Amino acid sequence: MVKIAPSLLASDFTKIAEEIKKIEKAGADILHLDVMDGHFVPNLTFGLPIISQIKKICSIPLDVHLMVTNPEDYLEDLCGIGVEYISIHQETVFHLHRQITVIKSGKSKAGIALNPATNVETIFPILEYLDFVLLMSVNPGYGGQKFLPLVFDKISKIKKYANEHNIKIEIEIDGGVNNQNAPQLIKAGATMLVAGSYVFKNADYKKQIKSLR
Ligand code: DX5
Ligand code: ZN
Repeated sequence: MVKIAPSLLASDFTKIAEEIKKIEKAGADILHLDVMDGHFVPNLTFGLPIISQIKKICSIPLDVHLMVTNPEDYLEDLCGIGVEYISIHQETVFHLHRQITVIKSGKSKAGIALNPATNVETIFPILEYLDFVLLMSVNPGYGGQKFLPLVFDKISKIKKYANEHNIKIEIEIDGGVNNQNAPQLIKAGATMLVAGSYVFKNADYKKQIKSLR
């Protein structure tokens, strides 16, 4: 069954603890945390001190999406905090396989995120070392943007390559996910759906999450 990962970015930051409790109760599988540095993306969010506090109060797995130019500086600390999923952007790292190894030796699940303009073929040589791929269906940096259907072709390319090479991998879609595109995404092979504004825009988070499934 598909895993739903609400993005904290769309929550009320003046009540983070309350929002996390509500989202857990509403049946979220994973909590998606968007780390932005104001360099790789034109926006700033939060970093390690806040993530380690969140880890103490959150009972569902954390999924940290690193939208930063220097993800390698965060990996050991994130693993030390016990973050379950960590993704780094293909566009930010020279030695992807090395950083994936760092994440996995820290006992977290390792993923590579791809911007809309980045070809999936760029990660095929190391696909077998990954636990998941995060396909951006908007340009990273902000919540509430319009979904880009170009991810469908990427999902099928990954599925085809993975099948041919006997690779088991999760496919996470991030950006503009809603109840209109979720059924097609799941059908195409997405196994994790990130949703920020769609989940948080309605006070009934449970209903929103259920409608995505
Ligand atoms: C965008 C972030 C997303 C964002 C999704 O840079 O990576 O995780 O929070 O928000 P929505 O679902 O509103 O597009
Ligand atoms: Zn994200």
